[in-house]
Amino acid sequence: MSPSPHSPIGVFDSGVGGLTVVRALMQRLPNEDIIYFGDTARVPYGIKSVETISHYATQITEFLLEKEVKLLIVACNTMAAVASQVIHDLSPVPVLDVIEAGTRGAIAATRNRQVGVIGTLTTINSQAYVHTIHAAAPDIGIHSRACPLFVPLVEEGWLDHEVTRLTAREYLSPLLELDIDSLVLGCTHYPLLTPLLKEVVGDSIQLIDSAETTAQQVVELFEQTGMANPDPTPGSHQFFVTDVPQRFQDVGSRFLGQPLFHVHVVNW
Ligand code: DGL
Repeated sequence: MSPSPHSPIGVFDSGVGGLTVVRALMQRLPNEDIIYFGDTARVPYGIKSVETISHYATQITEFLLEKEVKLLIVACNTMAAVASQVIHDLSPVPVLDVIEAGTRGAIAATRNRQVGVIGTLTTINSQAYVHTIHAAAPDIGIHSRACPLFVPLVEEGWLDHEVTRLTAREYLSPLLELDIDSLVLGCTHYPLLTPLLKEVVGDSIQLIDSAETTAQQVVELFEQTGMANPDPTPGSHQFFVTDVPQRFQDVGSRFLGQPLFHVHVVNW
């Protein structure tokens, strides 16, 4: 059976971070059904090899395609950075990802054409943001920095903690010397640090949160393809994870912005 406008949207991430994208989707497209997959048993991906990440991305893509989704959203910068081609090759339905969205947000935001990008080690090493931003706007100067400690700090819930503030200052001070006017939050976890990061970078730098831009891209795609769900009733939301770690409900709810229900464990 081929997907119809009534089919669900598949969203996936290495863990719970992609729930920030689900949250933005729920706000913009409240009547869409969403199936989320978070590989909570194998997170973090951001320090793993390209081969391993591609293998995991293949498994998740196949899982969601079996659920007959009408659209796949790669809500993980690390997977989008190194496994995008693998996912596109497997998928008969459209694929959107947070790197395209972040790129779009950065190009729209920058005035002085100097953009900072922060993300996991794998994302920054892949230069994926450099390639996608330069493909659309070759004149933009891109200044990247890996911030690997942010993921565990966010998972720990230290969103407004002195350790996180000091870590952010340490990571971001070289970027702040480079006259950037926009900073792409190139990792699903970073939007939760927005208030703290704003404090560290100051008012002159705009933070680009790819969750919002991704939701906007979905709205536009559905307008072009007529794939929006015409059913006016509120959409259903299902969450599949590979493990339920301690504090999962707490951390997941923080990302989603509301309590997490309908969580199913997939035993891989
Ligand atoms: N989801 C990952 C990302 O957006 C962060 C967590 C991880 O390292 O797996 O890059």
